[in-house]
Amino acid sequence: MITVNEKEHVFHLHNGRMSYLFYVMDSGQLGHLYFGKELRSDGSYLHMVEKAHRPMTTYITEGDLYTSYEHLRQEYPTYGTSDYRYPALEVQGTDGSTLCKLEYQGYEIIPGKKPLPGLPATYVEEKGEAETLEIRMLDQWRGLEAVLSYTIFRDCDAIARSVRFINKGEEALFLDRAMSLSVDFPDGDYESVQLSGSWARERSIITRPLQPGVTAVSSMRGNSSHQHNPFLALKRRHTTEHTGDAYGFSLVYSGNFLAQAEVDNYNVLRVMLGINPFGFRWKLAPGGEFVTPEAVMVWSNQGLNGMSWQFHALYKNRLARGYWRDKERPVLINNWEATMFDYVEDDLVRFAQKAQECGIELFVLDDGWFGARNNDRAGLGDWKPNPAKLPNGIKGLAERIEALGMKFGLWFEPEMVNRDSDLFRTHPDYIIQTPGRSPSHGRNQFVLDFSRPEVVDEIYNQMYALLSNAKISYIKWDMNRSISECYSASLPADQQGEVFHRYILGVYDLHERLIRAFPELLIESCSSGGGRFDAGMLYYAPQGWTSDDSDAIERLKIQYGTSLVYPISSMGAHVSACPNSQVGRNTPIETRGNVAMTGAFGYELDLNKLSEEELKAVKQQVVFYKQNRKLLVQGAFYRLLSPFEGNFAAWEVAEHDGSRALVTVTRILSEINGPYRRLPLLGLDPDRKYHIYSKYLSYEAYGDELMQFGLMLEDQASGQIIEGSGGSGSCEDFRSLVYEVVGL
Ligand code: GLA
Repeated sequence: MITVNEKEHVFHLHNGRMSYLFYVMDSGQLGHLYFGKELRSDGSYLHMVEKAHRPMTTYITEGDLYTSYEHLRQEYPTYGTSDYRYPALEVQGTDGSTLCKLEYQGYEIIPGKKPLPGLPATYVEEKGEAETLEIRMLDQWRGLEAVLSYTIFRDCDAIARSVRFINKGEEALFLDRAMSLSVDFPDGDYESVQLSGSWARERSIITRPLQPGVTAVSSMRGNSSHQHNPFLALKRRHTTEHTGDAYGFSLVYSGNFLAQAEVDNYNVLRVMLGINPFGFRWKLAPGGEFVTPEAVMVWSNQGLNGMSWQFHALYKNRLARGYWRDKERPVLINNWEATMFDYVEDDLVRFAQKAQECGIELFVLDDGWFGARNNDRAGLGDWKPNPAKLPNGIKGLAERIEALGMKFGLWFEPEMVNRDSDLFRTHPDYIIQTPGRSPSHGRNQFVLDFSRPEVVDEIYNQMYALLSNAKISYIKWDMNRSISECYSASLPADQQGEVFHRYILGVYDLHERLIRAFPELLIESCSSGGGRFDAGMLYYAPQGWTSDDSDAIERLKIQYGTSLVYPISSMGAHVSACPNSQVGRNTPIETRGNVAMTGAFGYELDLNKLSEEELKAVKQQVVFYKQNRKLLVQGAFYRLLSPFEGNFAAWEVAEHDGSRALVTVTRILSEINGPYRRLPLLGLDPDRKYHIYSKYLSYEAYGDELMQFGLMLEDQASGQIIEGSGGSGSCEDFRSLVYEVVGL
């Protein structure tokens, strides 16, 4: 998968479908050549270097009027000589100088892929699945070594990158910017695609044409954020969901990030991704090492959906890990939206009992069970059950739930503390705050300084005590505010720029220790819904609470957007009560079920309050989900109709061999006597005959017809009145249907 042209110093990473090429310039720096569909070649590529005499340019060598870094495509650029674009690396020495020049020293090809110490990363199970190229670069003047690592995967059109820095000099160095990846594309004629939003409306798809200058998304909140996801894609103007070139860049990291595309004056495009340089400064003592988080770049010539498949396949199979990776996820019920903080043990058991009657498998006790937590002003940090609510403790409640034949799950917010808590009273110094300044609060809580190992130990010990004492099969790990007044009491002045990153390393460490101690524990990540829904978290928690907005119609956009990068098995999605708590909307129970089912499925309402008819629907949904969850976790996901573009949302999950598919179609607002509608499907076998079932239809058709002519939406979801239905329901808003397409 990695070919080296020793004469021309060209490195070619390829896997039969995709190529990535770079070379060593005469000056020793690395130049980028190509990234895209695999190139056939006799091994000579240097003619691809575009280089011309340009006026008003700074040249590297006297007498040479052609060579300037400014108009050469770079591979891991530094700043200070003649490239005036944003660099991937910025270093300052104790002399104050920021100049840095990395020169090629050598390379090594390693079968498989090495883990990244303390950081989440993609992995291989067998060495033959991937090959890794490590390029060793050195700034001789500073003694800074940088090892650029590239892993190309055999079965996936993805390259994982990271950089390891080692200070081989005698003086301390400061890394002010250390991006995980940088790529210079030969032209900037792309549109960028980002996933942006806010609390309760996370990850909307936003597309904009690149213009000269910088297009960027970032976070400086300490969590990857509701506002922007650590991801950026590039597509051509004519690229669609299913055709055309698309490149995706995703950071396997949960803290501050920067994803940036810069188009220069020669229409060359530089993309970079990594830790946000703002607020970052890492002191590299002599002999010290720093490893950047991993960044993954994928390419597809099958549009944005093709790009998503690459991410889904890699993240589902080689980023998520452990006991739950390939397992069917339990259908859960969570009490939060139903009870908030107000419950006692018997209420919970009644709540779970009804769920058990409906076939639900896991009961999750959310916030409010510990310390003095009767509202959001107290208790965080005291992970001991509140005897007034739970007289038999977590152990007693878990036993009663297990006796129902269900599993028991528990909510934690490990990184936080309330002022009104025993932990804060004992260790007021444990929070992140700047000395002499008042710390801001978010939801009345403060952020524990997870950059300090003793703070992580304290929380680990509390969690370990509970998890080893009671039968807890699942935890929901929440994080309900961002970091402010960032400063750690344990670090000297010249290391305060490390706090954000050290904090996330502490979070990862706690995750890792819990997984090691309880390998069968299912962890669902959460951050006020989707405030930390990123690839870093996926390494520890194979599912995440996608958004605090549980309204099925809002969820169409949230889940559709999230699917650009993240597999549907990672998206926690629940049926909640109506009118919906967030938007006050009433939606049919079928629609709530249909939308939530294309995710890690569950309920978040008191089933004792439903009508007989609704309960019947819930029971049917649970049966249907259990019959199909293997497909829903492992199938290929196709986005068919975008809720960002019209009144319909549609998606399909198909077996990889095309033998079966489920198609979910939601009509948002009702329409009367609408046009005939057909929905061309994807991923079926053109020569195979299928039976199509829905609530209103049953017919047979060949795969080619279903993919060319389309599935006929002749039912309530298309707004047409069905004879015999008396017209009832046919003109309601928010109707949806699932079609089963079963190969005969
Ligand atoms: C956050 C989560 C919710 C719920 C509450 C509890 O907002 O996103 O799902 O757990 O906290 O306080």
